[in-house]
Amino acid sequence: MVTTEVSTDWQVMSRDVLMFYVNGKKIVEESPDPETTLLSYLRVKLRLTGSKLGCGEGGCGACTVMISKWDPINNKIVHFSANACLALVVSVHGCAVTTVEGIGSTKTKLHAVQERLAKFHGSQCGFCTPGIVMSMYALLRNKPVPSVEDIEECLQGNLCRCTGYRPILSAFNTFIDSTAGCPMGAKCCKNKPIQNGNECRHRLCTKYNIGCSCFTGFPETSDKNLMRNDDPHASQLVCFSKYDPTQEILFPPDLLIESKSEDPKTLKFVGERVTWFRPTSLQQLVELKSIYPDAQLVNGNTEIGVEANVRGRHFKYIITPLDVKELKTISVDDKGVNIGSSCTISQIKEELQNFIDSGSFTKYQTQCLESLVEMIYWFAGDQIRNVAAIGGNIMTASPISDLNPILMANESIATFRLHSRAKDRQVLMDQSFFPKYRTTCAEKGEVLISVFLPFNTKDQYMKAYKQSKRREDDIAIVNSAMRVVFHPGTCKVLKFVAAFGGMAATSVMPEKTMQNMIGKEWNETLMKDVMIWLRKDLPLALDAPGGMVEYREALAASFFFKFFLCVRGNLVEKGLTTLEDDLKLQNLTTFKPTDAIHIPMSTRTWQDTTDGQPHDDMVGRPMQHASGDKHTTGEAVYVDDMPTFSDELYLCLVTSIRPHAYIKNVDISKAVACEGFVTYVDHRDVPGTNEIPIAGELCEVFATSKDAMHHQSYFDISKNVVHGDAITAMATCDHVIEGEVRIGGQEHFYLETQACIAVPKGEDGEIEMFCSSQDPSMLQRTTATLLGVEANKVVSRVKRMGGGFGGKETRFLVVSNPVAVAAHKCGKAVRCMLSRKEDMIITGGRQPFFANYKVGFMKDGKLVALILDLYGNGGNTLDLSGGVLGKAVIHSDNCYKIPNVLIHGKICKTNISSSNAFRGFGAPQGMLIVESWMTRIAQFLNMTQEKFRDLNMYKEEDVTHFNQKLESFQARRCWEEVIEKSNMVQRKEQIAQFNQQSRWRKKGIACVPTKYAIGFPYNWCHGGALVHVYTDGSVYLSHGGTEMGQGLHTKMLQVAGRCLGIPLSRIHICETSTVTVPNTRATAASFSTDLNGMAVKDACDTIMERLDPLRKQNPDLEWNDLITKAYNERICLSTTGYHKTPGMFSAWDAETGIVEGRTACYFSYGAAVSEVEVDCLTGDHVVLQTDIVMDVGRSLNPAIDIGQIEGAFVQGYGLFTMEEPLHTPGGHVITSGPGVYKIPGFGDCPRNFNVHLLRNAENDRAIYSSKAIGEPPLFLASSVFFAIKDAIGFAREESGLLGWFQLDSPATSELIRMACGDCFTKQHEQHTDPKVEKGVKSWSIRA
Ligand SMILES: Cc1cc2nc3c(=O)[nH]c(=O)nc-3n(C[C@H](O)[C@H](O)[C@H](O)COP(=O)(O)OP(=O)(O)OC[C@H]3O[C@@H](n4cnc5c(N)ncnc54)[C@H](O)[C@@H]3O)c2cc1C
Ligand code: FES
Ligand code: FES
Repeated sequence: MVTTEVSTDWQVMSRDVLMFYVNGKKIVEESPDPETTLLSYLRVKLRLTGSKLGCGEGGCGACTVMISKWDPINNKIVHFSANACLALVVSVHGCAVTTVEGIGSTKTKLHAVQERLAKFHGSQCGFCTPGIVMSMYALLRNKPVPSVEDIEECLQGNLCRCTGYRPILSAFNTFIDSTAGCPMGAKCCKNKPIQNGNECRHRLCTKYNIGCSCFTGFPETSDKNLMRNDDPHASQLVCFSKYDPTQEILFPPDLLIESKSEDPKTLKFVGERVTWFRPTSLQQLVELKSIYPDAQLVNGNTEIGVEANVRGRHFKYIITPLDVKELKTISVDDKGVNIGSSCTISQIKEELQNFIDSGSFTKYQTQCLESLVEMIYWFAGDQIRNVAAIGGNIMTASPISDLNPILMANESIATFRLHSRAKDRQVLMDQSFFPKYRTTCAEKGEVLISVFLPFNTKDQYMKAYKQSKRREDDIAIVNSAMRVVFHPGTCKVLKFVAAFGGMAATSVMPEKTMQNMIGKEWNETLMKDVMIWLRKDLPLALDAPGGMVEYREALAASFFFKFFLCVRGNLVEKGLTTLEDDLKLQNLTTFKPTDAIHIPMSTRTWQDTTDGQPHDDMVGRPMQHASGDKHTTGEAVYVDDMPTFSDELYLCLVTSIRPHAYIKNVDISKAVACEGFVTYVDHRDVPGTNEIPIAGELCEVFATSKDAMHHQSYFDISKNVVHGDAITAMATCDHVIEGEVRIGGQEHFYLETQACIAVPKGEDGEIEMFCSSQDPSMLQRTTATLLGVEANKVVSRVKRMGGGFGGKETRFLVVSNPVAVAAHKCGKAVRCMLSRKEDMIITGGRQPFFANYKVGFMKDGKLVALILDLYGNGGNTLDLSGGVLGKAVIHSDNCYKIPNVLIHGKICKTNISSSNAFRGFGAPQGMLIVESWMTRIAQFLNMTQEKFRDLNMYKEEDVTHFNQKLESFQARRCWEEVIEKSNMVQRKEQIAQFNQQSRWRKKGIACVPTKYAIGFPYNWCHGGALVHVYTDGSVYLSHGGTEMGQGLHTKMLQVAGRCLGIPLSRIHICETSTVTVPNTRATAASFSTDLNGMAVKDACDTIMERLDPLRKQNPDLEWNDLITKAYNERICLSTTGYHKTPGMFSAWDAETGIVEGRTACYFSYGAAVSEVEVDCLTGDHVVLQTDIVMDVGRSLNPAIDIGQIEGAFVQGYGLFTMEEPLHTPGGHVITSGPGVYKIPGFGDCPRNFNVHLLRNAENDRAIYSSKAIGEPPLFLASSVFFAIKDAIGFAREESGLLGWFQLDSPATSELIRMACGDCFTKQHEQHTDPKVEKGVKSWSIRA
C-alpha cells in the first residue's frame, strides 16, 4: 500500500543524542557531526588509537573494528567486521563497537587471536596488525571453530606489506576444527617423533600448518612462565592458551534490554554541513526522499564514504534506510527470489546459499543464485560485504559493478517507489536501466525497494565471470554474466542474454550478438561468429578510460568462450550434442571457478643453536618480535598515535592540480575563509637555507625512460663499468643476441603513511621532531639547516615506523620540512600525516628501468661478453638514484661469470615524482635484466635453464665484473639444495604432462639464484650504540638503527643479552634518537644489524670489562647485586659503542668504468624455485609452490630472518607480477590508492611456501657470523615471473608460436593473457581504432 501523505515534520524535528558502546563503555554524544567517521571518533575523541588509518577508502583493513547490534528481524545479536574509516559515527547509534583495545591487553591478558599472532611471528611493523586481529576476532565471534576457507575469506579485506601473510595464516589456522582430523592423514606430524633435530617443530602439521588432532601436543596453558621469551624451549614449542569462546565479552546488557524492548526510533543528527536521518518505516523513507530528492540513501557508505574521504565531496542530506524492514528482507517463492535493496552483500550470500542448499529448488532453478554467490566471493572483502548493500551497488551504476551484469543477464526486475505516485514502478534491468555513466533510470525522488531474480528453467544455463588485477578484493577489469535458453531438448538457441562490465561507460548488453544468436545451433561455428559480433558490440576506443583496451576485448571474448565450453559440457552430458574434434574434452574440465580457495602449506627449517650454548643466551633462537604483543593489542605507538600537544596545529599539503607547471601565484583566500585556518606556509617562511631540490626545466610532459632517452634528458651522473674487453670479445663469439628489457616501478605502500610532529621548545631555537623516518640524523641535519640553527638544537626521535622499505630514507623530508617550518613560524606544535592519496602522488617509489643488452656466448653455452646500457627513471629530482643505479650496475652479473663486461648506466630525468630508495635499491632491477637474457640464451641453445645457469655460475674465488673476489660463494649450494628440496626435476616432468592434457590452463616452473652485495659506501660503514645500566640492574639500550618492522631492536636485544649475560626482559629499547646516538646512518641497505650489532656489542663489552674485576672477586653475585656493588664502587655503568666495518674501500671511476677495492662487505645468497598455474584465457595465475634456500650465515633470529624472507618474497612478487604505477598521458598519477594500486593480498601467498636457511654457512664479516637479510630475498620472487613465462611458452606452443618472446615486468594478467597468443588475442592484436593514426594516446602510461 503506497500513501502520499507526509507524516512527520522532518525539518522541525529535534536533533537526537548519539548513543553507542565502545568496548563495553557507554558513549553519549550530544551533538555528533554526521560527517565524522567512526575511526576519527575512536582515535581523536576516545583516544583509542589501536585502529589505524591506512587508506581511508576501505582498501587496507587497518581500521577494522567489530560492530554488534540487535537484529530485530531475526531476533538475535549480530557481530560483523567493518571498516571504521568508512562507517560514520552516527551510523553506529544503538550498536556496540569493539576495537582491538577491547579484547585484550598486555596489562591484563592477550586474547587468543592476539597471543597466537604474536607467537607465530605474524607481525613485523605492526601497523596492519590490529585490523587483522579484528577481522579474525569477528570471525570467531560468529564461528568459534572456523574452517580454513572461513579464515581466508575473513582476511580478504586486510593488507599487510611486511609479513608475506604466511605466518598470519599459520597463526590463525590453529583455530580450525581440531576434530576434523589432519588433511595429511597418516603423514600428519603427530605421527612423527619429535627429534632433537633441525626442523621447525611448531607441532603443527608441518605440511598444512593447521591444527588437527596433533594439537593435543600443545601444552594448553595460561602459565606465563612457560611462554617467557627467554624460555629455553621457546625455539621448539609454541605454547599458547586455549581459546574459550564462552569467555568473550558480552553484548552490553543494558543495550540488549533497550534494543529488545524498544522499537527502532526515528533519528536526526545535524552537523554544520550535513543532516542525517534514520527513518524507521518505508513510508518515512519515501517521504524524506520526496522532501530531499537529492539526498543520498546511505547503507554501507562504501561508495559515498569513498567520495567524501578521497574526493572531498560532501552530501548535504543523508538518509539511512537500515531500519526499514521491507528493504532488509529476502523472500523466495516458486518464481524466484526478491532481495530488499538494503540487504548487505554478506546477508545475500548467506541466505542465497541457504536457499541453494535447502533442497527446495532444483539445481537448474538456482543457477542465477549460484552465479551471484560465486561472484560475491570475489566482491571486496568481508568488512565491505558486511555493510555494503545491493541497492547501493545497483544505484551507483558503476560500469564495473559485479552484481549488475548478473542481474541484467537474469532479466531481473527492480521495484521503485515514489512518494507522490500511487503504485510502485517495476523496471526490467536491461540496457535502458543504465542509460549513461553512473546513471540509472530512477526518477527523481524514487527509492529502490527491491530486486527480483527469476529462477532459471530447465533449458537455461547461466554463469558469471570476473577478472581483476588482484584475485581478491579488487574491482573488475572486465566482468560478465551470460544466460542462454535453448528450445526444449535441443541445442538451438531460443534466447541469449549477456551483460558485460568494464567494456563501456555502463554495464553493457551486446544487443546485436544477443539478437544474432537466436535460432543458432550451439556449435563451434556459432562460437567463432560470436567472437566477431562481440567485438562489434563492445568496441573500445584506444583512449577508453581504464586502458588495457586490447586485453579487455580479449577478456570479453575469452569469457564467452569459457561459457560456451561450459554449456557444451552440459549439452554433451545430456546427450544433446557430441564433441567436435577441435574442442577437446580437456577444455571442459579445466575451469574451476573457486580454484583459488586453498589450504596453505608451509615448512621452515633452520640451523639450531649448538648444544653448548647456554639456555639463557638468546642469540640464534626464534625469538618473538620485541613489540609483537604491543602490535597485536594495538598498544604500539606510531607518530600519529601520540597524544596532541597543547595548541597543536595540523598541517595540510596543497598539491598542484597540474603535474607539470610553474607556480605563478597562490590564492589562499578560500583557505583563509575556513574556520580554524591559522596560516599559510611556503618557501618564504624558511628562516634558514632552503635546499629542496627543484625539478629541472623539462619543457614537455614525459614520464618514461624512453621519453627521456628521446629527449636526451639525463641527470648529470653516470655509472659505467669496464671489465675485460667486451667489444673485442664480442667479435669472437659463436653467437650474439641483442634485446631490451623493461621493468616497472613500485609504490612503497608502507601501511603507515609519512608522518611527523614538530614541537618547538620555546627557547634557543630548540625543536623536537617525532617522525616516521629511517634516518633520524638526516632529519636533524635538514631541520637545522632549514631553520637556521645548529644541529645541537634539534632532537629527532623515531620510536617505530609502520613500514619503510626505503621510502622513509629520504622522502620523510616531504613532510618533516614543512612541518618544521610551520612549527617555527607559529611557535606551536605542528602535526601532519599524509593521506594515502597524497603519499602516493608525492613521494615516488622504486626506479623503473629500461635496458638494452648485447650478449656474446659460445656454442657450448659459455658466456663471453656483455654490453649493457642501463637507464633508470629517476623522476624529477636525483634523490638516491645515483646509488640505485650503481647497485643495478654491480648486480648486472647476478651469479654468473661474464669475462668481458661493458656497462653504461644513466639516470633519466622525467616529470614523475622523484624515484628513491626501495628494498633492493636497484639490485632486483639489475638482476631481472640478467635473468631475462639468460633465459633467452638457454632457450636459443636448446639447453635446460638449470644446465645453462649451472654452466655459467661463479665458482669460489672468481672475480666479479667490479673486481671483487668471491669468498665463501654460497649461491651454488643454495641453488643445488633448492633444486633438490623442491624436487624440481621430477615436477618439471609432471608439469609437461599436465600441460599436454590441458589446453587453457598451463603450468610453469623456474629456478632463480641470487647474489646480493651487502654494504654501504666506505664512509657510511659505521654504527653507534649507548648502554646505561641502572642501579636496579635494568639496562637502557639505544643504537643507531630504526625499527620499521624488520626486527632490528629484537636482534639488538639478543646481542646485548648475550654480551651482558642477562635475560632480554631486563633490557629496554625505547626509541632511536639523536640525543642518545648521534651522527648515525640511515637504517638501510640491510646493513643495520651488522653495523649497530657490533656497536651494541662494543658498548656491552666495555661495561662487562669494567665489571670484570668485581665479578672475579664475587663470582656468586647475581646481576642486580653486582650492579649495586659496582655503583657503590664508583664503576661507570654507562658507555657508548662504536663500530666501523674494516677493510671497506671502493674506488669506482664512473668515467673510465674501473672499479677497485671492496665494493661489497660480503654477499648474501639464495635460490628459489616457483611453480605457477596460469589461466591462459584470462591471464590469471596462482603460485602453487615456492621453495627457498637462503644463506643468512648463522641466523641471529631464525623467526625474524624467515619473516624477512617471506615478506621480501611477497613484496617482490608484487613487483614482478602485479604492482604497476600508472600515469595519465598528461602526467597525473592514476594509481593513488589501494583501489587502483594493488599490492599482493592473502590469496596471493604461495599455496605451498617452504623456506630453508642454509646450514653451516659462517660469515666472519658480521656480528656472530650472521648475514644481512632485509633486501636479498626480494629478487627470488622473480622465480614466479620466469615460471609464468615458462607457462606462457607452453600456451604459445599450442598456437604454433615457437621460440623466444618478450615479457616485460610486471607480468600482469594483461601481459600474460596477451602473451599467450591465441585466436582470441590475434583478433585484437591490431587495434584498428582510427584515432591511432591521429596520435591519440592510450589512457595510461607505465613510467
Ligand atoms: C574497498 C572497496 C571494494 C569494493 N569492491 C567492489 C567489488 O568487488 N565489486 C563491486 O561491484 N563493488 C565494489 N565496491 C563498491 C561498493 O562496495 C558497492 O557498490 C556497494 O554495493 C555499495 O553499497 P553501499 O550500501 O555501501 O552504498 P552507499 O555508499 O551507501 O550508497 C551508494 C549510492 O546508492 C544510492 N542508493 C542506495 N540505496 C538506494 C535505494 N534504495 N534507492 C535509491 N538509491 C539508493 C545512494 O544514494 C548512493 O548514491 C567496493 C568498494 C570499496 C570501498
Ligand atoms: S584505513 Fe580503513 S580500510 Fe584502510
Ligand atoms: S606487519 Fe603488516 S604491514 Fe607491517
